[in-house]
This record gives sequence, C-alpha cells and structure tokens, in this order.
Amino acid sequence: MKDVKKIAVLGSGGWGTAMAMSAASSGHDVTVWSAFPAEIERIVSTGENPLLPGIKMPKELKFTSELKDVADAEIIITAVPSFATASVVAKLAEMGIPASTLLVNISKGFDPATCDRLSVTIQKALPDHTITVLSGPSHAEEVAREIPTALVAASSDKETALLIQQVFTTPRLRVYTNKDMVGVELGGAIKNVIALAAGITDGLKLGDNTKAALMTRGLSEIGRLGKAMGGSEKTFAGLTGVGDLIVTCTSMHSRNRRAGILIGEGVPVEEAIKIIGTVEGYHAARLAHILKDRYQVEMPIMDACYKVCYEGGNALEEVTQLMTRPTRHEDDDTWLND
Ligand SMILES: NC(=O)c1ccc[n+]([C@@H]2O[C@H](COP(=O)([O-])OP(=O)(O)OC[C@H]3O[C@@H](n4cnc5c(N)ncnc54)[C@H](O)[C@@H]3O)[C@@H](O)[C@H]2O)c1
Repeated sequence: MKDVKKIAVLGSGGWGTAMAMSAASSGHDVTVWSAFPAEIERIVSTGENPLLPGIKMPKELKFTSELKDVADAEIIITAVPSFATASVVAKLAEMGIPASTLLVNISKGFDPATCDRLSVTIQKALPDHTITVLSGPSHAEEVAREIPTALVAASSDKETALLIQQVFTTPRLRVYTNKDMVGVELGGAIKNVIALAAGITDGLKLGDNTKAALMTRGLSEIGRLGKAMGGSEKTFAGLTGVGDLIVTCTSMHSRNRRAGILIGEGVPVEEAIKIIGTVEGYHAARLAHILKDRYQVEMPIMDACYKVCYEGGNALEEVTQLMTRPTRHEDDDTWLND
C-alpha cells in the first residue's frame, strides 16, 4: 500500500486541528490551513487553538494561511463548516492540485446552495479526485486528548478506503471502512438536527424517556431518508448512525445540543446560534426539510425542528404535536405487506 507522508487540513477549527494532531502523532508531516490569517497567528503565537482550550499544539504541526503551502500534500482533508466547503474546494480547484491527491471530508452537513452531500460538492469541483468521508462519533476535544475513538472511512473505491484507514489509524483512533458513502454522510449530517432537538428537550426540562424516544425515532427518520437516497440500512445501526447520534445527543461537547438547550430555555433561535457558533444542525434542519420533500419521506421530528428553527414554532407545542400524531406500528414495513 502507498506510503503517505504529507497531509494538509483545510480549516483550523476544533475538528480539523484535532485530526491534524492525531495524524501528526503517527509520524505524518501535517499542515493546517486557515482562510483567516488571524486564526493562524493566534495559534502559532500561543501554541494553543482557542477552540481546544488547554491543549498544547505539538511542535511538529505546521500552520499556514497560504493555500499554496498545501498544494503538494498527498491527502487534503476538508474540515470547514458545511456552508464554506464549496468556496474552499473552489479555491483548491482554481489553484490546481495533482489528480493523485486524495481528498478526505470530515465536515458534517449539506451544501446550503444545492442540498448536495458534501462529497458530491467536492467531487463537482474536483472531478478527477477520489474522495473519502471520514465520520463517526467524535468530539474534537476528546480526539485532541487522545481519548480512544472509532471512525469510519467511507469511499466507493475499496483501495482508497483501505489506504485512508491505514493512514489515520493510531493506537487511540480506530478506523473502520464502509463502502456506503450515502449512509455514512447522511447519518453524520442529520444527527445534528436530532441533537438540536435533544438539547431543546433538555432546555424544556423534559426527561430521559423523552430523549430516548427522540433519539430512537430520530434514527428511524435518518434511516428512512437514507434508504430513499440509496444508503444501506445497516450503516444507520453503525458508528456513523446510532454511534454518532449517541455521542451528539448526550454530551455537553455538542454545540448542536448546547444551542438546543438555549432554545428550549427560551432564547430566540438566531441568538442561540450566534452564542454557540458552528451549529450544523440548524442549517441541516432546513436542508433535510427540502430533502424529505424531494424524496417523499415522512420525517415528523425533522418537521418539528424546521418549524422551531425557521417558522417561529413553539418547542413545547411541537412536542405535543409529535406525541399526538396518529398511532402506528413501530417498524415502517411490518403489517404493510401482511
Ligand atoms: N468539533 C467536533 O467535535 C466535530 C467532530 C466531527 C465533525 N465536525 C464537523 O467538522 C466541521 C467543522 O467543525 P469545527 O468544530 O472544527 O468548527 P469550528 O467552528 O471549530 O471551526 C471552523 C473553522 O473553519 C474555518 N472556516 C469557517 N468559516 C470559513 C469560511 N467561510 N471559509 C473558509 N474557512 C472557514 C475556520 O478555520 C474555522 O476555524 C463541521 O462540519 C462539524 O460538524 C466537528
């Protein structure tokens, strides 16, 4: 298998930096790029990324705000929020990189302009490149502290998935492969909406029963849309499905959940998003709403989140609406064909 040395990460946020630290810890030559020189100056001058407070950057990790510094990387990772992925890969395409450069997306969400999965957006900008999605239950704060974590490398090309698995596996980061890019990306993008909803129920001071029901029925919705879009049902029972849902809905590391808590406590939605920062679930709620109509899939929790986020819906009333829907069988298919 090819020996990879040079890796670049686009985006100096918490997640890009944590993955850069992990790759550097296994001997790779890693450079983190940011479009914002001030971010880079601050990290270099303090030896810390303010998005990962208290964690010292390893000396061997390089930082730059010049895109040309990453042009010779063998692997380029995209780690900017989903709304910025298209503009960042457009810059890469304009600069020109060799077709052999492997692209790995670790952001979670949809392209806000097209509703595309992010790997599709990247492929459109750089059609000659092979793309892998690296996703799973992972808080940047924990990966940066080398807390054992498992991820999934999804690619339609088996050799590439195996190579990415080999490159990113460390004694603290276990990487599985999966050929189902649709399922892996969908799970990662839509669980953020469920996490926002889980936070809302926490903010409303509802209980563990409510959250368990929300997560489980939320997973059904993810699976329903995922299947309609061509994903495999098995993927949603795996790390990037139920695994990512658990980690996001139950942790205070999750900005989606924290934004939800504020909303549940009565903070206006836009103010809550401003306070927390990158809240992918807020954007994904709008895009999932478009996708569920496009694929004709029933997603009542998504509808409720959309109403709260974009139509001024009252969170507690939406909970009542969900609880008083017509009763049904738990499983989508059972009895329909009997
Ligand atoms: N934080 C996590 O634990 C975690 C884990 C897995 C996946 N993710 C995903 O990774 C992505 C990034 O999350 P994060 O937590 O690192 O976000 P962040 O808010 O910590 O950082 C985002 C970084 O992206 C860059 N950026 C922001 N706007 C940009 C623009 N318009 N143009 C170019 N670059 C821009 C900046 O360098 C910024 O620091 C998100 O899609 C998120 O869902 C995050």
